Amino acid sequence: MTFGSKEQALDLARSEPYPGPMKTAIIGPGAMGCLFAAYLKNGGLDVTLIDCSETAAEQIRANGIQVQGVRGQLQVPVAITTDAASLGPVDLVLVWVKAYHTESAMRQHLALVGRDTAVLSIQNGMGNTEALARVVATSQVIGGSTTMGANSLGVGQVHHAGEGDTFIGELDGALSPRVQDIAGRLSTAGIKVACQTDISGLMWKKLLVNVGINALTAILGVKNGVLAEIEPARRLLAAAVKEGIEAARGQGHVFDEAALIALVEDVARRTAQNRSSMLQDIQSGSKTEIDYINGAIARLGDYPVNQTLCDLTHVIETCAGEKHEN
Ligand code: PAF
Repeated sequence: MTFGSKEQALDLARSEPYPGPMKTAIIGPGAMGCLFAAYLKNGGLDVTLIDCSETAAEQIRANGIQVQGVRGQLQVPVAITTDAASLGPVDLVLVWVKAYHTESAMRQHLALVGRDTAVLSIQNGMGNTEALARVVATSQVIGGSTTMGANSLGVGQVHHAGEGDTFIGELDGALSPRVQDIAGRLSTAGIKVACQTDISGLMWKKLLVNVGINALTAILGVKNGVLAEIEPARRLLAAAVKEGIEAARGQGHVFDEAALIALVEDVARRTAQNRSSMLQDIQSGSKTEIDYINGAIARLGDYPVNQTLCDLTHVIETCAGEKHEN
């Protein structure tokens, strides 16, 4: 799946292996947090998961993380704690909480961050790196994006539904030794990561993927693939993405409309069997990231398609909450 331009991306998957593990903490043991923790630990990195629930942590401590899906089956014992202070400062913090928890989670687990710690966000949604930069120094924050798809099957249990591209980059665009080092280590450990010099453009691109896929799959109750297969669904996807492209232009990021819509459809096809993260949230009665995806677009101007998707999702969220109460 081509996600970043070849000219801008420096693929480090074939760089020399790095000596010694990099002390890494992953905040948020949801589907993506567990997926990254399992693959990276399995690939030799020193990984600790940070949870806020002792009950869930106990379960993962006892059973490890179980992954099934496109790479087969895997059961990996991973260290987990609810007490960041017991771990202390690490080399890399990978933040994998929902966008609406980013700032509070970082504040809660600030003991993980020392002077030289890098804090990486590959999360969905707009505003995560800004939220992190309200808690740690902006220079410590690294942005990222991925089109890997995963579903949670329960505490510490993940279905890896689709491979994708993962990119990371310094917010100021520098191809720093730090970002190359991190990309190289993650790639060597099993998650192929490339460096990007225009990470904010790439984060916009990923946002537009989520703008086209997440709310529609959540509202329609369908897997991602349906959006690329059925004509009216393709039209809805295109309409939401077109508005997103317009909003991005207003923020200084210019995308070719046809190419971007084709990219979003391609992601839907490649992750055809995946239930998007927003559909999973709706189905599990959890709060969605709608305000950080289509809602974020709607706040940037007069974008009726995204406003409607946002409103519909809120109605479904509210009714799902009421259903759980009754
Ligand atoms: O949020 C998601 O589900 C994922 O970002 C993606 C790429 C749309 C795949 O399902």
